[in-house]
Amino acid sequence: MPALSSQPFDKQSYTSFSMVVFNKIKPVSEWVANQKKEGKSIGFVPTMGALHKGHLALVEQAGRENDLVVCSIFVNPIQFNNKEDLKKYPRTIESDLKKLDGAGCDAVFSPDAEEMYPAGHQTKTYDFGRLDKVMEGRFRQGHFNGVAIVVKKLFEIVQPHRAYFGEKDFQQLQIVRSLVTQEKLGIQVIGCPTVREAGGLALSSRNTRLTEAQRREASRIYQALVKARDMYPASPVDQIKQQISDLINASPELELEYAEIVCPDTLLPVTRSGRNTSAVACVAVHAGKVRLIDNMYLNS
Ligand code: PAF
Repeated sequence: MPALSSQPFDKQSYTSFSMVVFNKIKPVSEWVANQKKEGKSIGFVPTMGALHKGHLALVEQAGRENDLVVCSIFVNPIQFNNKEDLKKYPRTIESDLKKLDGAGCDAVFSPDAEEMYPAGHQTKTYDFGRLDKVMEGRFRQGHFNGVAIVVKKLFEIVQPHRAYFGEKDFQQLQIVRSLVTQEKLGIQVIGCPTVREAGGLALSSRNTRLTEAQRREASRIYQALVKARDMYPASPVDQIKQQISDLINASPELELEYAEIVCPDTLLPVTRSGRNTSAVACVAVHAGKVRLIDNMYLNS
């Protein structure tokens, strides 16, 4: 294989892969359009790279449910409200491509920021009602608008039949669903279960930045969510939230930012637990400088 640079490249550079790699919008759009003309269904997995087994599970599911899988790798600068987080976001394009090829991906779109956001590009402010005002939206101003802008752009470029997102980013998943409805994009959005380490920690690209002690302690997040699920629906919501907080904050390595119990569709707070009340517990936790999120359905 030729030397790989950390810059985007042309598909010609990757002759040893069975998948094709694009870094420009026009060729990837044309490739997809040609495949669709031949009657092929397209599954799309948008990512920011630093791929782990959770991403590969999305690619595999997309492969089972579609003729072809397209994956994008783009660290989207406009969804980072924290410059330091953007700078530190792991960039591992070479191993990402190998993993995608191995997972059965057919085409990768890996543009640079100038390709996605040329000078003078149009921007937009979306109205997601409550969906982007709570939880992550409260603590990461502008984050979901940046996600919506890039996802809409990627959907227009790739024009897939189905798009796959991890349930770990639960609020993002609901926002993407709302985006597709608002913009009448006609794409089926599929949420896929969170993949976890043996101790329960949800896989995340940010986990690579955890110290050994933080990583060990971070499995408390999963334990707290399981406890919440056990307590629901017999205990009052406030008591469940307090229990989550106590379990997580008992570790010197962790600090809970929020714990919310919300209706999965509206993200409105669930005030009364009950067997017939759908609920998902969502948490954000700081482990040193690393911010982790996780969630769990409470009555599944
Ligand atoms: O979940 C992510 O990795 C990103 O938010 C996404 C959906 C690829 C948009 O940049």
